[in-house]
Amino acid sequence: MTQITMRQAKDYVGQTVEIGAWVTNKRSSGKIAFLQLRDGDAYFQGVVLKNDVPSEVFELAKSLLQESSVKVTGVVQEDSRSKLGYELLVSDIELIGDSQEYPITPKEHGVEFLMDHRHLWLRSSKQHAVMTIRNEIIRATYEFFNKEGFIKVDPPILTGSAPEGTTELFHTKYFDREAYLSQSGQLYMEAAAMAFGKVFSFGPTFRAEKSKTRRHLIEFWMIEPEMAFMHQEQSLEVQEQYVAFLVRSVLDNCQVALHTLERDTAILEKYTQLPFPRISYDQAIELLNANGFDDITWGEDFGSPHETFIANQYDQPVFIMNYPKEIKPFYMKVNEERDDLVECADLIAPEGYGEIIGGSEREVDYEVLEANVKAFGLDPEELQWYLDLRKYGSVPHAGFGLGLERTVTWICGTEHIRESIPFPRLLNRIYP
Ligand code: 4AD
Ligand code: MG
Repeated sequence: MTQITMRQAKDYVGQTVEIGAWVTNKRSSGKIAFLQLRDGDAYFQGVVLKNDVPSEVFELAKSLLQESSVKVTGVVQEDSRSKLGYELLVSDIELIGDSQEYPITPKEHGVEFLMDHRHLWLRSSKQHAVMTIRNEIIRATYEFFNKEGFIKVDPPILTGSAPEGTTELFHTKYFDREAYLSQSGQLYMEAAAMAFGKVFSFGPTFRAEKSKTRRHLIEFWMIEPEMAFMHQEQSLEVQEQYVAFLVRSVLDNCQVALHTLERDTAILEKYTQLPFPRISYDQAIELLNANGFDDITWGEDFGSPHETFIANQYDQPVFIMNYPKEIKPFYMKVNEERDDLVECADLIAPEGYGEIIGGSEREVDYEVLEANVKAFGLDPEELQWYLDLRKYGSVPHAGFGLGLERTVTWICGTEHIRESIPFPRLLNRIYP
């Protein structure tokens, strides 16, 4: 007997196959039982006809409980009513693993309950769809950067430096000294860009942020490209092409998942249009003040209502450029005309999803950078290796970081970032 997964169904129409699956639901009448099944890849229906199978098979079908695992044998049939287009006409069932009193029933459950059962919640069709889209974004990331001639470089996770500020660090013992979990691989990626030209990293990052919002994780994954001989304006072009490529890839390759999530694909189509709009920080402040936001003045960072208002002016993600130097990290290059601004941009996603990219051109002047290191309370000795990069063949370079989970949440159109990663680490949660 050929064992297949339901994804291969189209090649086996009319043939008898065997599939390993779990039972998500069932209903039966006197003569027919419908099994809702999932094989880890697809969700599909198995039909058991009382008159066509041995009576013990029909009895077993009727007795199967939610999440029991089975091997089902049957004939693949076309079924235009199902999303998948195929179902299985079952001739035999083997029970593999029993499942009594599965805690997540088809009724509504509260979020904390579901989070406590995240190890099981992952099996539900919505979570499956989100993870499918996450996987596609990961796949498309590698495709994009490889096609554009970047090489992947892996920065360390245990570090002695704090690029994004010293208040949000996870401290850990490193034998007889102290170390931190990486907040960002950027500084190492700058070294890598001087060695390999165009590089990207893709790894976990950690921030001990005391923020309990629908956009913050304590552990999240970041994609950080860094490009030698490149200025901020060119980096913005790479950023918008990359983001549009991600949305295009999901639209082309994840139709079933988008349908499960009831995501409006016409809206997503707009995000594949280039270029993305750009406004300056100054203009953004003026826009907010002119529209009744008197809780923000020049020199302050945006909160999420501000970002959402700005995002709502456009149909695409929008770049906010040239923030005040004071509210950005030490490594950003100062604007040539205005020394109170830096050469940076944040990319704000539409529909209230907030910042998905932070990026900038990097300061290349040794003296300016050394002064910044000290002014930001960082240890110049710990960062001597980084300052070295400005001594030996320093070149203009720029880069950015895209938050994977924010991007997944936005493209999926889901409410909260906690569903965009298999096992989220949140302010009040490290279980399961
Ligand atoms: O803006 P951030 O802090 O930028 C950096 O870390 C730079 N060193 C990147 C670089 O230039 N190489 O973070 C980048 C992105 C944010 O735009 C956001 O998408 C995501 O990382 N991010 C978070 N995602 C989830 N939870 C958090 N707590 C996040 N903090 C940042
Ligand atoms: Mg940022």
